[in-house]
Amino acid sequence: MSLWRKKSIDALIASSQQGRTLKKELSALDLTFLGIGAIIGTGIFVLTGVGALKAGPGLILSFIIAGLACAFAAFTYAEFASLVPVSGSVYTYSYATLGEFVAWIIGWDLMLEYILAVSAVSVGWSGYFTSFLEGVGITIPAALTGAPGAGGVFNLPAFLIVLVITFLLSIGVKESKWVNNVMVVLKLVVVALVIIAGVFYVKPENWTPFMPMGFGGVSAAAAIVFFAYLGFDAVSTAAEETRDPGRDLPKGILWSLGVCTLLYVIVSAIVVGIVPYQQFEDHQSAPVAYALKVAGQDWAAGIISVGAVVGMITVMLVMLYGQTRIGFAMSRDGLLPKWMSSVHEKYRTPFGSTWFYGLFCAFLGALVPLDKLAELVNMGTMAAFVLISVAVIVLRRTQPDLPRKFRCPWVPVIPGLAIIFCLYLMLQLPGDTWVRFGIWLLIGLVVYFTYSRKHSNLNSASEAGKAS
Ligand code: ALA
Repeated sequence: MSLWRKKSIDALIASSQQGRTLKKELSALDLTFLGIGAIIGTGIFVLTGVGALKAGPGLILSFIIAGLACAFAAFTYAEFASLVPVSGSVYTYSYATLGEFVAWIIGWDLMLEYILAVSAVSVGWSGYFTSFLEGVGITIPAALTGAPGAGGVFNLPAFLIVLVITFLLSIGVKESKWVNNVMVVLKLVVVALVIIAGVFYVKPENWTPFMPMGFGGVSAAAAIVFFAYLGFDAVSTAAEETRDPGRDLPKGILWSLGVCTLLYVIVSAIVVGIVPYQQFEDHQSAPVAYALKVAGQDWAAGIISVGAVVGMITVMLVMLYGQTRIGFAMSRDGLLPKWMSSVHEKYRTPFGSTWFYGLFCAFLGALVPLDKLAELVNMGTMAAFVLISVAVIVLRRTQPDLPRKFRCPWVPVIPGLAIIFCLYLMLQLPGDTWVRFGIWLLIGLVVYFTYSRKHSNLNSASEAGKAS
């Protein structure tokens, strides 16, 4: 039972071509839209406030640093994703190239990313929803709009929205390309509105001093706002439905990230240019809308709140969908219990596991403050990016002949930069986040060694023969 046993790539590709295959209809532009739909959400609409409190106007630089970390990671991600263009995620690819144990760790990390991202976005959603309700004269008691430690007891709107998302996914409502495109346009309009309505109210004196908390503050904020960029990796899950994955996947990943980076840097400059950053202390739940209120643009603030409330729904849909599919793949491979990949007779979805993960996300969103959730999501994701970047460097040496439809430029420099940036940002996260991440990994190791290794499909004779 080797830790390094692999699934065969040929078998993976063959199984994706058997029986009914998915329609290959997505273009690079579709993938870019898919990426933007998953990216713009709580990060820019909410964490901007948390970040500004840490970095001051230097938040602009924080967004640039986090964007660079993601850009380097995106190049390596794109190479990895184009290695094995089948449905799934980096978990599946790593199983075929790096072996079961590394795949397990990457899959376990990604579960942390997706589960907690759903919870974190639900908290951000709740902040905007509550502020929207207040705008129309309805006030929910504070106890029911925040987690313990964030001024409340149980974040009810966050809890309920995750249940709604779970319900939709469990009965097979997948986001269609059409719905996603509408949502993306809406989000882009909202972001453009922030820029257009806000730019004339920027007071350059608010930008100085630029780094009141020093570069340390800027780095700490970068480690938080990193969350705003997550989602570009979701593009890779659509590999099998892409017309030409080798060409279009990297374009979709890099374009969506590029567009968002540009917008984020401009929006953050405007927000901290309108509002002296200290004021965000009391306006953390809907800081972008608050900035426009300060600018006297209440009408724009209202539209932004509505746009954010609607737009964040796509992020949760994509993330929870991603989680259920990773869990599905891991269960189908025997690494998680089989019931997690059983498909509902009528709805043809992993119904039971969707509810299992959904409830988990819902309770976390209701009971844990946003910054704690975001820190842990970022930690898990950066760890996965580091592993993938190492993998890209290693695979270039150990398996130079693998067909790489997209080659990351300047290996090992770009993956090396991804590793350095991600490790640096991980080190900016607080000690308790490291402890929580350590516990999560430890649980993962226990599950792997007590359950997954013994139940892996690769144990059966036929699979073992195929495994290299
Ligand atoms: N990037 C996504 C968001 O900010 C996860 O909501």
